[in-house]
Amino acid sequence: MLLTPPYEKFAYTYDRMMKNVNYTRWADYIESLFGKYGCEPKTILDIACGTGTLTSLLASRGYSMTGIDRAKGMLKVAREKAENLDINIPFHQGDMLNFQLDQQFDVILCTYDSINYASNEKEMRDMFTRVSEHLAPEGLFIFDITTEKNIVEHFHNRTFSENHQDYTFIWKNNYIHHTKMCRTFLTFFIREGELFRRYEEVHHQRIYEVGTVNDLLKAAGYRSLSAYDMYTFNRWTRSSDRINFTAQLV
Ligand SMILES: C[S@@+](CC[C@H](N)C(=O)[O-])C[C@H]1O[C@@H](n2cnc3c(N)ncnc32)[C@H](O)[C@@H]1O
Repeated sequence: MLLTPPYEKFAYTYDRMMKNVNYTRWADYIESLFGKYGCEPKTILDIACGTGTLTSLLASRGYSMTGIDRAKGMLKVAREKAENLDINIPFHQGDMLNFQLDQQFDVILCTYDSINYASNEKEMRDMFTRVSEHLAPEGLFIFDITTEKNIVEHFHNRTFSENHQDYTFIWKNNYIHHTKMCRTFLTFFIREGELFRRYEEVHHQRIYEVGTVNDLLKAAGYRSLSAYDMYTFNRWTRSSDRINFTAQLV
């Protein structure tokens, strides 16, 4: 058994495990936010871009995309995907808490609960500060968070598994209410020749209240434009599974 850093082995199975995620709808939603806030971006930075599905999709719609992620394994898949689509996207390995790219972007994205990997308020504020250094004046910072309701209702104490020809995964989740931390235990058996090798990953995601996120945005020099129930222009509610924030520098 090998314990690997988060997303290094997950990268092998990620796109197949996320096959039900509708990235076209996600890209449409992001573009609708551009329209709503009168933003006509040319350059977009996708932080925690993962395997780069959204990054490539937005590039194919004409935006000049850059991706950054901490996991080399995810970036390898992202680069291959862009290459297969004949799209040129610089993908950088970096930590969202302390990256430096010497460039400003018209829009900065951080999608699909990635910001929940900031494990405390200081980390989230550090991330917001890094983003502010890379965001053009009038630029939009668009990100989403997963909610406590989503974790408790759909993930806490639940196990998911699938068996495929070349891999098997077991995905267990546990949420600790008083620390607001969700731990995900992933076990992969990945085919290597005639045998399967076992890998383990442990992920930690922190749940944040909307008020906390807004306070941290303000402290880092932003004004929050909206906190919407995902894919809508409706204010978030306690029933929201995912909340999409849009913010701008003051
Ligand atoms: C749920 S995946 C989302 C990937 C992609 N945005 C998508 O929509 O498919 C979370 C991603 O966050 C990345 N990540 C987690 N913590 C990070 C950090 N501190 N810095 C950079 N990337 C990070 C992981 O490597 C992973 O690719």
